[in-house]
Amino acid sequence: MAWSENYRSRFLDVDLDKGRFRVSRTAFSDPAVFQEEKEKILYRSWLYLGHESEFPNRNDFLVRQVLDAEILVTRDSQLRVNAFYNTCGHRGALLCRERAGNKALLTCPYHAWTYRTDGSLLTRGKVGGYCKEMDDDRAYDLKPVPQLAQRGGFYFVNFSADTPTLDEHLGKAGEWIDTLLEHSAEGLEVISGLQEYQIRANYKLMCENSMDGYHLVPTHGSYLDYQRHMLKGMEVPSLGGHVIALGNGHSGLQSNLAVGRPIAQWMPSWGEPARTLIEQKKEELVGRLGQERGEFIANTNRIFCLFPLTLILDSQSIQVRTMVPIAHDRMISRIWLFGAVNEDPEIRRVRLEGALSFLGPGGFATPDDVEMLEISQRGYAIGGVEWNDISKGFHAGEDTADGELDQHIDNEIQMRTYWVEYDRIMNDGPSHDAQNVRVTEAAL
Ligand code: FES
Ligand SMILES: [Fe+2]
Repeated sequence: MAWSENYRSRFLDVDLDKGRFRVSRTAFSDPAVFQEEKEKILYRSWLYLGHESEFPNRNDFLVRQVLDAEILVTRDSQLRVNAFYNTCGHRGALLCRERAGNKALLTCPYHAWTYRTDGSLLTRGKVGGYCKEMDDDRAYDLKPVPQLAQRGGFYFVNFSADTPTLDEHLGKAGEWIDTLLEHSAEGLEVISGLQEYQIRANYKLMCENSMDGYHLVPTHGSYLDYQRHMLKGMEVPSLGGHVIALGNGHSGLQSNLAVGRPIAQWMPSWGEPARTLIEQKKEELVGRLGQERGEFIANTNRIFCLFPLTLILDSQSIQVRTMVPIAHDRMISRIWLFGAVNEDPEIRRVRLEGALSFLGPGGFATPDDVEMLEISQRGYAIGGVEWNDISKGFHAGEDTADGELDQHIDNEIQMRTYWVEYDRIMNDGPSHDAQNVRVTEAAL
């Protein structure tokens, strides 16, 4: 970020002389701020919906909550993917009560209005009593969500029609999604099942925490001890890597910490049969992508945050994590695991084990992280202290107008880039001239 002057707003306090970058705790603790950000940010952003592998066939459907809305996703008879509000055009009952299924016709349980999977109303059940012309203008078809788009099979919705496109919004972060597709020539698929848990904390804390290299050693000491034990005879885990601001509030973290990756980094605890398979996988990768790229895909852990509430992890497993913000101090976290299509069952086994043992809700990481999120939220509720500090790595030398936004893994540039975008949108404008401040065009 090209900061040339000190900056102060409702949410940010930037002091160049002191190298200080702070965020107001009201962004986590004030219910009125939460309502405002729903209107200004969340209902105008691209939000993760689901993956193409979850609705591969004609007439597949699923129901998914995004923000406060239940969305009905269908693949219609023409194989087009649609996203509708899951509410009947008659008197509003939920049209589909199942989470997923396959049906050519979707019949409302209340009075049997029936829709095709492209959203068009087919029949009103007992049709007597209605004017013949009543539905000539298709006024009762299911209502689509204003925008639906995908990148590499990952579908996103936007509740506002008047926004940049998904690709414009993603910018460079879109390439981080594309990299996932290199894992397998046969594509990726969601592994059946969902991890879902509530956390008594603001959803932005999850965005910060998932991208936070700084907390790894203090918070996850028990995991690192375990990892050292499991990796006996292998390279000692290192914290090497970097974090990078990707523009539009997105950021990425890369590390070479040896964690065991089903693609394709073997761990001694996985045993010899898995070793052979992992070595074959590595050969396939190198053959398909070349030595350098193959090594990169095999060994590089990546976590990236797509502003404002989607996180994609590519480490012990691939997972997409998104949140349903319930209140300023409460969220539901939802996690989908991904594997390669036609993956060997043994590889799938170690993938699931890796995902559960560290990242899962009962694993080494998540309970520790949830605890940190919740005690942070409780800390804000105490009041009396205005600011959080995210200055690590922010100093006079941080002039990143040329786009080189890399920093060491335990710095906090990924948080600063998130909050600059947050602050920009909440304060209704691209620049902050009002209070003797300047965030240049090049800031993002
Ligand atoms: S509310 Fe759906 S048919 Fe009446
Ligand atoms: Fe963590």
